[in-house]
Amino acid sequence: MVNNWHSYDSIARRYDGIWGDRFEEAARHMWDLIPHRAGASVLDIGTGTGVVPRALGTRLSELTFIGCDRSAGMLSKAKAQMPMLCTLAAEAAELPFRPSVFDVVTASFVMSHLENYQAGLIEACRVLKPSGIFAMTSWAGGTNPYSEAWGRLLNESVSKERLQEGVKRVTPFASYFEEEKNVNAALTEAGFADVEIHTVELKCRLSLEDYLADREITSEGRYAKHLLGSDIWSQLVANAREKLRQTFGSDFNYKRGAIIALGHKK
Ligand SMILES: C[S@@+](CC[C@H](N)C(=O)[O-])C[C@H]1O[C@@H](n2cnc3c(N)ncnc32)[C@H](O)[C@@H]1O
Repeated sequence: MVNNWHSYDSIARRYDGIWGDRFEEAARHMWDLIPHRAGASVLDIGTGTGVVPRALGTRLSELTFIGCDRSAGMLSKAKAQMPMLCTLAAEAAELPFRPSVFDVVTASFVMSHLENYQAGLIEACRVLKPSGIFAMTSWAGGTNPYSEAWGRLLNESVSKERLQEGVKRVTPFASYFEEEKNVNAALTEAGFADVEIHTVELKCRLSLEDYLADREITSEGRYAKHLLGSDIWSQLVANAREKLRQTFGSDFNYKRGAIIALGHKK
């Protein structure tokens, strides 16, 4: 079997259970900034399991909504939960749409994954109608004692440099999009006008087991598991469980910033 650790196909089954609520909260903040207009046409790039359309609640039925993604596994989860959602397998940097067809284009936690994010932003702008709105989110930079402790434990088995290779393979521009000024520059360079940047704080409250599951499905965790093999990975997690419990107990509470950017097509 081909190991597809770098594709979201490999975590489609677990995505919603582990990350769904947090990503949905960020999507709700994003929708709060976009004026709602019944009948509007919306494209969600990198829709994954459909968190962004789901965050609209009952307003979704008032829109013509298409969710696209490169991962068939993620799209099948979206479809299983929202059979009425129109989904499409597509690359963000080569959208299969004519110019100027959507009123709103969204991309929540997606642009950092693209090898050429500028091409993705230019595509988003191309398919928007004039005066249409583009909205995206990305994680803000920052750390917390839990991720630092987990990182040290992981580095006992895989070096920082090696892990960085894995992260770069999945999200080559994660660090770039952690900075508000870079997000602003990226949207402006792609041709968007009246760019607005907002940072919101999401409260994360996880049990130790949920925290370990969260770490396992990150690009870093997936790559480390791929390099080490399942048996050594299980030993690493068992060791981490004990050490993290001794240091922090079993409740993990921290805040994580999410950057929300809006731009308008001229
Ligand atoms: C972190 S998930 C976010 C999913 C969803 N937007 C959410 O908020 O839960 C990133 C998604 O982007 C998709 N993706 C990554 N690179 C892509 C590309 N080049 N073209 C289309 N989709 C892509 C992945 O398959 C994955 O579903």
